This record gives sequence, structure tokens and C-alpha cells, in this order.
Amino acid sequence: MSATIGEALAAASERLRAAGSETPRLDAEVLLGWAVGADRTVIVAHQEAPVGADAAARFEAAVERRAAGEPVAYIRGFKEFHGLAFSVDPRSLIPRPETEAIVDAAFAEVMRRLTERPGEAGAGPGGGGDPIRVADVGTGSGAIAVALAVALRNRRVTMGRHVTILATDASADALDVARENAVGHAAADGMRFVEADLLPPVLPDDGARLDVVLANLPYVRSDAIAGLPIAASFEPRDALDGGPDGLGPIRSLLARLPDALTPDGVALIEIGADQGDSAPSAAAESLPGWTATVEPDLAGLPRVLRVRRG
Ligand SMILES: C[S@@+](CC[C@H](N)C(=O)[O-])C[C@H]1O[C@@H](n2cnc3c(N)ncnc32)[C@H](O)[C@@H]1O
Repeated sequence: MSATIGEALAAASERLRAAGSETPRLDAEVLLGWAVGADRTVIVAHQEAPVGADAAARFEAAVERRAAGEPVAYIRGFKEFHGLAFSVDPRSLIPRPETEAIVDAAFAEVMRRLTERPGEAGAGPGGGGDPIRVADVGTGSGAIAVALAVALRNRRVTMGRHVTILATDASADALDVARENAVGHAAADGMRFVEADLLPPVLPDDGARLDVVLANLPYVRSDAIAGLPIAASFEPRDALDGGPDGLGPIRSLLARLPDALTPDGVALIEIGADQGDSAPSAAAESLPGWTATVEPDLAGLPRVLRVRRG
């Protein structure tokens, strides 16, 4: 006789607790939901229902992968970010909830620029003229670029005409995931994917400068990588390792800003919660005369480094 949902959850929670998961019951519920093709809330509400043989086999295999430390998102193949489901696999980092702060700040920044532009009668947000040029540097799964494009589209901004997004990554594999997510969310219009070290030497549109540069680059100190939860060991190291003080890639990007940004352009860069002082100091050193401020995420932790001229 097949086990009930309640029995399967109890056994899997025990297995995951013994394997060291910090959230064994939640992991079990989410994975069983995935295995039976139902939402976790359905699982929680129907403890007496039997688990079919195929679903039970899928669940067992998933629990073993999780017990070995693999993140739930890689096992299920997707992660929710900014209200959207992103395909994820070991080619790219799993987007983190705190990164939604960059998307929200970017959305506000782009909308402000569009509404402050001299309008062209009847042309909608932003009126005529050049599009607002945005770059998402180190796009990974495309989380920031795609979530921003979808949020703008929901406000009737026409991607391509009003806003373009250049999504870059040093990893061709990650760019493939980003492309898949952009297409999956019908958000590829006005978006370009370029393999580059930070930014291409010549920006698209004959080198036209960028209005808004977004980035969530690696910012974990090299010596802290080994202390991350085991799930992080399944993610690409190049997506995490920020060098000896964690600020290496961010410093390199700061150095590119004078040539890349328009005179009134802005960069919004994700930082670690412990970099609220060191990141603006790095910006002050790299970019004398510029302004660097830090904005918090929803948890109130330092998260977004905002950099502009003057
Ligand atoms: C922390 S992950 C962030 C991914 C995604 N933006 C997100 O928020 O989920 C950093 C990404 O930057 C990329 N990266 C690291 N160094 C880079 C560089 N020098 N130029 C371009 N991309 C880089 C990595 O491949 C990885 O995809």
C-alpha cells in the first residue's frame, strides 16, 4: 500500500534533519509538492491522501539529492524571484530574495527618467527620443534584467522603444540560462545578451553610453566561501567569489563607470550586508568627486550601492 502524504513527509523530514538541513519539513513539503505536481499548500492540506508510485519515486530521489546538500531550486529546476519563476540549474546562481531590492530601485529609477523626459504627444511613457539604456552586469539567470523588463512591461513601457537592457556575463553558460528566462517570460524584446568581462569594450548602438547600470556581481570574500552553506557549493564559484576583500569585481566595475555612464547616469550595485562602509569607501577611492550612497533591503540591511557623478 502506498504511503500517505503525511507519512511521506514525516519520513523525509527525518531523513533531511539527520542530513543537516536547517529547514527539513519545509524542504520536504516543497519537494513533495514538486514530485506530485501540486502546490505546497495542497500538500499541507491533504495529509491523508496517498502518494502515487511515480511521485513517490521522484520524491525519494529528490530527497536524496537534497540530503546530499543540493539546493531545492536546482532539484525543482526553478526559483521564484520578484513574483516570477526563473529556470535555474548549476550553470547560474540561484537568485536571492535580497536582490529584489536592485530590481525595485532600478524600476523606480527608470520610471522616473521616463516620466521626466519631455513627452511626445500620445507616445506613452517616455515620449519620443532615445530609449533609456540599462545594463545588467553579471546577469546570471537573468533575474534582474528579466524581472525589470516584466515590471516595466506591466506599466505599459514598450521595451526596445522606451527602454533597452544589455545583459552581460563572463559565463556563456549563464547567458544561455538568462536567454531562456527572457524568452520564457516573453521579455526578450529590447534585451541584448553579450558575453563580456563586465561590459563589452564597445557598447551597443555605436558605443552609446548607459543611463542605468545594474549589477549583482560576486561579493563574497574568497576566504568566506568555504563557510557558506553546503548548497552554495553546487553554484558556480565564479558567481560568488569576490576576491580577498569581496570587493574585487565591484571595484573593477566602478572603474568602468566614467566611460560607460551618461553624465547623469547612475549605477545600482548589490553589496553584502557587511559592506555598507567598505563599498562606498571603495567608490570614493575609485571615483573621486562622485557620490556613493547605500540603500537598505527589506530586512533593513545595507544592500544597494548607488553611484553617480557629482
Ligand atoms: C552573484 S551572481 C549574480 C547573478 C544574477 N545577477 C543574480 O542576481 O541572481 C554574479 C554573476 O556575475 C558573473 N560575473 C562574475 N564576474 C564577472 C565579470 N568580470 N564580468 C561579467 N560577469 C561576471 C558571474 O558569472 C555570475 O553570473
